[in-house]
Amino acid sequence: MTQTLPQELEQLEATEFDAGLVFSGAASGNMVRGYSSPCSCTPVADSTYIFHESARDVVVWFMNKLDPLYLYGPAGCGKSSLVKQLAARLNYPVFNVTAHGRMEFSDLTGHVSLQNGNMVYQYGPLALAMRYGALFIMDEVDLLPPEVAAGLNGILEGQPLCLPENGGELIHPSPMFRFACTANTNGNGDDTGLYQGTLRMNLAWQDRFMVSSVDYPAADVEKALLARLFPTLPDSITSKMVDFANEVRGLFMGTSDTSINTIEATLSTRTLIRWADLTLKFQPLAHQGIQPLSYALDRALAFRTAPSTRAMLHELVQRVFPVENVSLGE
Ligand SMILES: Nc1ncnc2c1ncn2[C@@H]1O[C@H](COP(=O)(O)OP(=O)(O)OP(=O)(O)O)[C@@H](O)[C@H]1O
Ligand SMILES: [Mg+2]
Repeated sequence: MTQTLPQELEQLEATEFDAGLVFSGAASGNMVRGYSSPCSCTPVADSTYIFHESARDVVVWFMNKLDPLYLYGPAGCGKSSLVKQLAARLNYPVFNVTAHGRMEFSDLTGHVSLQNGNMVYQYGPLALAMRYGALFIMDEVDLLPPEVAAGLNGILEGQPLCLPENGGELIHPSPMFRFACTANTNGNGDDTGLYQGTLRMNLAWQDRFMVSSVDYPAADVEKALLARLFPTLPDSITSKMVDFANEVRGLFMGTSDTSINTIEATLSTRTLIRWADLTLKFQPLAHQGIQPLSYALDRALAFRTAPSTRAMLHELVQRVFPVENVSLGE
């Protein structure tokens, strides 16, 4: 007979791992708690994932019983995947929700539903994570309505969760329960206008978190990442793609030393991966007269920018890749 999710979670056995062995492959003598085996809620470990500098804070957070974690950084830099990939290495079950303007507290805690003619209370993701010792991740937390956020204040401090709809059941947090959030802003609203819908978080809410900033991986990390993901793309190309991405990021931030003005678009790690992928996918069509790198760049990023930015991006491609019909490998 198939197990229910609570039955599966009930059977998890906590264990200790050597943090160095798990995260970097070299024993460190520092221990971190996780579970002896994965379950259906444990993220699948991505063998191409590279832990880089931004992982440091999250590793320390996993190793110690610290306050809830608030990770913020630009779109597509790797916030959500970082926490999930660390959790995967520890066999941690993860309940991942994405905040939105219409989220209600019961979406997190649970609700009464009809099962075989009976009204049954079903735990929501937060209740399950607290009860069975999982990692609860709320992505895009700066979209969460302040009144729902305020309802979580007690939980963030380690207090039990009360479920009035389930006869007032009190769920005391398991010692393995962890609470992490990710967002594009640090909770103080968005002055740039790029992250529509983000809210200024309540100060008392913000005060309950350990805060960590995640940035794009360093150039050598992104180069290694592209090499792992797309081994048929020559290093000379992937290396220039990363340089191009960093130039675009510099133009976006206004920190580039070129004479070109700042632009409204940036090139995230997510977009970089998409660009490399599309370049390979369109390479076989080069005989039709398309230039795979430029063609893929349009579809990965440039089509969603202003015409002047798009023209500028193509100018930059021509500069970074002087001979476009370079061999892209197999
Ligand atoms: N260090 C890394 N190693 C491997 N892949 C990575 C790394 N960093 C980011 N990625 C990849 O980049 C993509 C974007 O990552 P992710 O979704 O974690 O970004 P995010 O910062 O949470 O984005 P958003 O701001 O949109 O929520 C994913 O496909 C992820 O696997
Ligand atoms: Mg994310």
